[in-house]
Amino acid sequence: DTHFRDDIAAILRLKKERNAVILAHNYQTPEIFHCISDIQGDSLALARKAQGLEADVILMAGVHFMAETVKLLNPDKTVLISDPKAGCSLAESITAENVRALKAQHPGVPVVTYVNSSAEVKAETDICCTSGNAKRVMKHAAEQAGTDSVIMIPDEFLAANISKETGIKAITWPGHCEVHEQFTPRQIKQYRVMHPGVVVVAHPECPPPVIEAADFSGSTADMINFIAQEKPEKALLVTECSMSDNLAQLNPGTEFVRPCNLCPHMKRITLKGIRHALETMQTPVTIPPHLAEKARASVERMLAV
Ligand code: 13P
Ligand code: SF4
Repeated sequence: DTHFRDDIAAILRLKKERNAVILAHNYQTPEIFHCISDIQGDSLALARKAQGLEADVILMAGVHFMAETVKLLNPDKTVLISDPKAGCSLAESITAENVRALKAQHPGVPVVTYVNSSAEVKAETDICCTSGNAKRVMKHAAEQAGTDSVIMIPDEFLAANISKETGIKAITWPGHCEVHEQFTPRQIKQYRVMHPGVVVVAHPECPPPVIEAADFSGSTADMINFIAQEKPEKALLVTECSMSDNLAQLNPGTEFVRPCNLCPHMKRITLKGIRHALETMQTPVTIPPHLAEKARASVERMLAV
């Protein structure tokens, strides 16, 4: 696309000048995902791959909690986010004070916190999880604590979906992803009528009845791998819209039917914004040291499982 050309060329030049790498979440638009990023992935892969990078500067093309996680794991590096207002409805839904109250109500029950959360919430947490490892982490946390339940926050739907798979009871918090909570099982039924044989793949942030109506559920990386392996003629990705755009380029044999929903926070990240961030070195992510140590420990415990 010609109107992207100048910005792409400038970003590629700036990456060399700054010794910078760009990490891109799977929900980034195709020109960011395919043309300028060095590493792509779901939240888990981005956290893993952010460790031990040689670069001086890491730019996160994703939302704020993702940049914060990268900073936790790379305290001595400059971690940039081109728009610090790129938030997440899940991260906004809960405070450290809320977590302390939950712990007081349920003493001895381990706290498993979705990475879609702030550093202050992570600091109150026993172990973090992502949608890619939630099942494993939930089992591990209950086993370690010798309990048959865990406090799983802040995504009520993720907790319910994973609890069904593991049989471990989840004490939940009423946080929702504003993108995935909008999907309904009725929509899926209608699409199956309109597109016979369509393979339906849903993110576990969707309400449980949506997951029940789908053929497969998993993190954005699990969804990508499933499509690459199954090579369906038609697929419905019940998630953010850029997933279908990015996968259409990688899987020319599959037709991606909609609906999808846009994440307004992910869409704050643009090519122009990234160019400006690398030109001005704005905005660096900072985490108060008294929170960073504890928050890092809960992310590291997750990475060790
Ligand atoms: P993944 O870890 O599956 O990529 O999910 C992140 C996210 O924000 C989903 O809405
Ligand atoms: Fe948060 Fe949902 Fe957007 Fe992911 S898609 S960043 S969970 S609001």
